[in-house]
Amino acid sequence: MKELPGAWLQKACRLLVVFCALHLSAVLFYYLAGNPRSLQRSPEPSPRGLALPRRETPTPRPHNSSEPCPDPSPLLVGPLRVEFSRTVEMKKVEEENSNVRPGGRYTPKDCAALQKVAIIIPFRNRDEHLKYWLYYLHPILQRQQLDYGIYVINQGGEETFNRAKLLNVGFKEALKEYDYNCFVFSDVDLIPMDDRNTYKCYDQPRHLSVSMDKFGFRLPYNQYFGGVSALSKEQFEKINGFPNNYWGWGGEDDDIYNRLILKSMRISRPDATIGKCRMIHHSRDNKNEPNPQRFNQIAHTRETMSLDGLNSLSYTVLKTEHLPLYTKITVDVGSPKS
Ligand code: BGC
Repeated sequence: MKELPGAWLQKACRLLVVFCALHLSAVLFYYLAGNPRSLQRSPEPSPRGLALPRRETPTPRPHNSSEPCPDPSPLLVGPLRVEFSRTVEMKKVEEENSNVRPGGRYTPKDCAALQKVAIIIPFRNRDEHLKYWLYYLHPILQRQQLDYGIYVINQGGEETFNRAKLLNVGFKEALKEYDYNCFVFSDVDLIPMDDRNTYKCYDQPRHLSVSMDKFGFRLPYNQYFGGVSALSKEQFEKINGFPNNYWGWGGEDDDIYNRLILKSMRISRPDATIGKCRMIHHSRDNKNEPNPQRFNQIAHTRETMSLDGLNSLSYTVLKTEHLPLYTKITVDVGSPKS
């Protein structure tokens, strides 16, 4: 019997619907199979309170250690809690930083560090502060993915303290060990409160301790360059290093500021939030009284900077120790009369 045209049309429509449904399910199946993340959920507790088996998460692409480290480092966490109420055991700090090489050297494993940074700390009788500094700074510097070394320049003898001369010594001695291209000069009692304040060098000399608790988290004056600063090798050499003849407390950082400005450089700074830092409270050290000549000295940087600095530096190394978390160099820097 001949089929009616209406019945034939009905059959054709049904076939088309079935075909479409099949096509849709095939598309859906291939989409989901090729995109496993779309199914991924965080594990839910099973009725017995056990986690359901996790679906495999895609493993991150391994870094190539010859690839430059990303800038900024993806390991940074931002603001940090910094406090000094608990005592810190050196043994524990050493254990926690077992990846640091003797002498306080560290190189990132997964990428090539953008800078080779020597951190220079002028020092005398501040072992308690140094423990806190190492406890806080080593993990920060590692998260900043720097190729770094820590140099504690210890003034031997009983003469008046000379911060800037110790920093000059640190520059010279660190370069004997490694081809550093950046120098961070830090007081031993200053701890950054945010790891985005990277201890590295910039196009212009960098002042890092811009927002200290001691000064109500602001600069005490616009020209202030004390605490922690970073200069590239070229910037440091351009100003003939730091002055050698500021004995006692104060003025040497102002002289360094003058040197930079006289050589037409500008000061670069992080913002006041990222640049926050805490100072460990302490009484004034012996043999580091305020230097009464500092005001007169600061007024003459223009004339003195080419005569007094790296080119006139003289000192004697008494002892070099490559300790687990830092290199300690004890030096005789002479006396105000010598
Ligand atoms: C001194 C600096 C010191 C600053 C802040 C100035 O009077 O010359 O050396 O860093 O005060 O204390």
